Amino acid sequence: MQPQTAIYNRLDNRPIGIFDSGMGGLTVRAAIERALPRESLVYFGDGANVPYGPRPREEITRFVDEAVGRLVERNDVKMVVIACNAATGAAIDHLRSKYPVPIIGMEPAVKPAALTTNTLTVGVLATAAAFKGTLYRATSAEWKKKVRILETVGEGFVELVENDREETPEALETVRRAVEPILAAGADRIVLGCTHYPFLAGQIRRVIEEFSAKTGATAAQIVDSAPAIARRAGQLLTAHNLHADPDKEPPRHLFLSFAGNDYIERLTCKNVHVPRL
Ligand code: DGL
Repeated sequence: MQPQTAIYNRLDNRPIGIFDSGMGGLTVRAAIERALPRESLVYFGDGANVPYGPRPREEITRFVDEAVGRLVERNDVKMVVIACNAATGAAIDHLRSKYPVPIIGMEPAVKPAALTTNTLTVGVLATAAAFKGTLYRATSAEWKKKVRILETVGEGFVELVENDREETPEALETVRRAVEPILAAGADRIVLGCTHYPFLAGQIRRVIEEFSAKTGATAAQIVDSAPAIARRAGQLLTAHNLHADPDKEPPRHLFLSFAGNDYIERLTCKNVHVPRL
């Protein structure tokens, strides 16, 4: 029998797989790279079928299953992070029952927002598919007994990010249309329930500041799940003895997609300077 210490000291240099419908999961990837700089990361951004938000559950499950299958079989990943609320909502149970690696999913961060709101009103911005997720529905139903939860689909948000149009007047207008009514209804927490949305955090903050200047209301806070997901990834690496050994080889970074080389190039170059919230 192996001595206990040998078991606890096992290290594993296989990469972590990170999946999203497109570029949104890069915001989660950035948080994971910051928290776990020794880990190799393989990022899979579908790109050919984005946006997932309006699609039916079965279709989303088919896409994510194929991508995760590739990550597990061809890239030999030791863990998968589904950095997509829509894909988590549709497929997390299926993926966990099919693949023999730890799988982490995203879920809009209603709990931290509900625990800290002063106005007892929380706004959640997400896609239609994320709002239909079983876990999200169960969590929000619980919190709705204590606070008001205003659910709004970020119409056009994903398209802005996929087309690198975050810093345009059109982006500010699109964000204002979604966010202003939530603020006007009294929300002081805005939960980002889609991993594409942190790319628009600058515009969301602009709308919040405009609204506060106009009404004198305290500025609402933006809540993103990416740092919590990165922490969870670290905990699972520890629990399963999966941390990488930095002395063996430096971390490798790979980008994959269903959408071909030009899209992979765009994933690699996308500027992910998501403001710290
Ligand atoms: N980034 C994804 C999410 O977190 C999905 C966006 C989409 O493809 O509609 O839900």
